[in-house]
Amino acid sequence: MKTNRQQLLQLLADRVMTSRELIRELGISQPTLSRLINSIQNDIVVMGKGRATCYGLPKKPGQEVNRLPVYSIDVKGDVHPYGQLTPLQGGQYWWQSITCSGEISHHLPWQIQDLLINGYCARAFALRYGDHLKLSPRLTDWTEEDMLIATSRCGEDRPGNLILGEESLARYFELVRNPPELIELGSQALEYPQLALKTLARETIPLQLSGEQPKFSVCLNERGAPCRMLVKFSPAADSKEARRYADLLVCEHLALEAIRIAGLNAVRSRLVISGNQTFLCIKRFDRRGLFGRLPATSLRALHSRIQEPCDDWVSAATRLQKQGIIYLSEARKLHWLALFSDMIGNANQHFGNISFLPHGKDNYLLAPAYGMRPTIYEPLAGEIPARLFTPPSLRKEAEGELAAARQAAILFWKSAAIDERISEGFRQICFENCELLQLQEQGSKSP
Ligand SMILES: Nc1ncnc2c1ncn2[C@@H]1O[C@H](COP(=O)(O)OP(=O)(O)O)[C@@H](O)[C@H]1O
Ligand SMILES: [Mg+2]
Repeated sequence: MKTNRQQLLQLLADRVMTSRELIRELGISQPTLSRLINSIQNDIVVMGKGRATCYGLPKKPGQEVNRLPVYSIDVKGDVHPYGQLTPLQGGQYWWQSITCSGEISHHLPWQIQDLLINGYCARAFALRYGDHLKLSPRLTDWTEEDMLIATSRCGEDRPGNLILGEESLARYFELVRNPPELIELGSQALEYPQLALKTLARETIPLQLSGEQPKFSVCLNERGAPCRMLVKFSPAADSKEARRYADLLVCEHLALEAIRIAGLNAVRSRLVISGNQTFLCIKRFDRRGLFGRLPATSLRALHSRIQEPCDDWVSAATRLQKQGIIYLSEARKLHWLALFSDMIGNANQHFGNISFLPHGKDNYLLAPAYGMRPTIYEPLAGEIPARLFTPPSLRKEAEGELAAARQAAILFWKSAAIDERISEGFRQICFENCELLQLQEQGSKSP
């Protein structure tokens, strides 16, 4: 026969429970429950206050990963307490930010989701730190818990301004003690090929940003001011595939320009060409100077607040706006970006490719657009497959943005068609796509 203590621990291993639920399940009185809880208070997590008090079991009893402090870094690089995350048994989490009383969540709280490592850089990260973290060197073997361990121990440079865990914070202080060397604008073409080689050889500390393109991080000397940049690069090889990657990086630069010309916000980028290799150098919107940081959250994390599937940007924008999480103006901008993406062949419209910046108490503005390029033309398994661009059909919800987004897409294809940094073959494709969109535009105007 199991004791009350054993039964209680068994119940809490499945999920968090309130006193009322425990009294009912165990068939004991409130005073008996209180005595029981007191006798095992070091083994359980007590959440909330008064009638709302709940009890749960820490994910790993007796281990330091039980309560993970979360810190924020401000624009000057100073550290502030932000909250505390307690992983629980049964796959739940207890999240307490310093501004609210605390919440129990059935999945990783949305505020923390972007801190989990993923993408190209995560694979490099797993190889580099797997041993140190006593985890597999293969990212594919990692569970969510492993990712949390990794982020809490080596997550000093995640996107946005949050840092999870004391060990990651200590690593942030280490970064501050050893500031990076600034790269002069004039020496980019000389330095970048070396940095690309080191990145591919995994000799540098992996940049902690997601995305599938290889990239590294630099701090540029912008007329005396340090400026954090991320740099994407094409392969150095003289091959058709390398040429296509280079063309697409030029396209990304032109797409960002077309977005800005249309009056929307896009990250500032600069192309650096060195021999066969093209580098796209992009200013970070979540960094200031050498150590300052700004909050940012991905569409994926923000959208997880409303527990709907991550389907497409247009529907997500409408949902977030209806829930009052983003303003109508921002939903319209995201509609615009979705249409523009459709019309420039950017099939990479996943929820990590859009970010938001907090605004006011609980509202969000669209972060500058990034990662926009005609991904349908990306090489596949070392080949350059022939792809047909078909102008997309209209999406009713985003109808109001169609004409302006199409104008911007036409401008994008036109500028790519005459840009001599792009290979002749690909310029021809850009020219044809421009004509296709112009035809579609004329068709929509005729009665
Ligand atoms: N300018 C920027 N400032 C801050 N974070 C950025 C910026 N550009 C991209 N990111 C972050 O880096 C990730 C990868 O960038 P992205 O441009 O999408 O790369 P890829 O082309 O490899 O997909 C994004 O999901 C976003 O979190
Ligand atoms: Mg991306």
